[in-house]
Amino acid sequence: MSLPARDRLIVALDLASVAEAERTVLRLGEAVSFYKIGYELVMAGGLGFAGDLAQAGKNVFLDLKLHDIGNTVSRATERAAELGVKFLTVHAFPQTMKAAADARGKSGLKILAVTVLTSWDDADLKEAGYSLGIKDMVAKRAEQAKAAGVDGLVASAAEAAMLKKQVGNSLLLVTPGIRPAGSAAGDQKRIMTPAKAIAAGADYLVVGRPIVDAPDPKAAADAIVAEIAQAKK
Ligand code: C5P
Repeated sequence: MSLPARDRLIVALDLASVAEAERTVLRLGEAVSFYKIGYELVMAGGLGFAGDLAQAGKNVFLDLKLHDIGNTVSRATERAAELGVKFLTVHAFPQTMKAAADARGKSGLKILAVTVLTSWDDADLKEAGYSLGIKDMVAKRAEQAKAAGVDGLVASAAEAAMLKKQVGNSLLLVTPGIRPAGSAAGDQKRIMTPAKAIAAGADYLVVGRPIVDAPDPKAAADAIVAEIAQAKK
């Protein structure tokens, strides 16, 4: 991956208001070039803010995990592309992935597929009526993601090495659940340090609380960027 280390860090703006998000982005300044906006901020007016951030020259990852009939997914994807965001997530169901991949066209928007939510385990899959366990399901959906023509996968760092082996460089790997040594895990169960996640094959790291809640968010971001820069792939 030839991207500068700084552009491989994605900061999750899991915040309750646009005002808070604006303050965080202002504080981080040039230290951060990529932001993830998810359900919470979107429900608080964050969709307009996503467009504003993109206009201001930042890369934006819209984490909306879309899943609906093909026509609806493809129209939503077209609107996301118009907003100027860089990444959009969909659930890794073949029809959904194909609709989004086809609709992104040449817009520059990249579609990322969420294979299986990391809060799920084998028992959850069984309860939902699936016969495969997590490992086989992730592998199957990664294969389907490749076939559908999406650009990348969101996966825990714990799965990154396996997925890298399976899909090689044909799909980007974006991994949350990153914790610098010594920082609180919060509700994340399978965590990895930035250096280890890069070594496992992650292309982009998503980091939220360790930066946003740090006493000095800019210093926290700089330290993670330095760790990415030094990590060996
Ligand atoms: O604060 P923290 O670093 O745990 O934030 C991680 C971000 O990545 C959150 O926005 C969370 O929703 C997201 N995410 C995750 N695990 C996934 C997919 C997304 O933690 N499998």
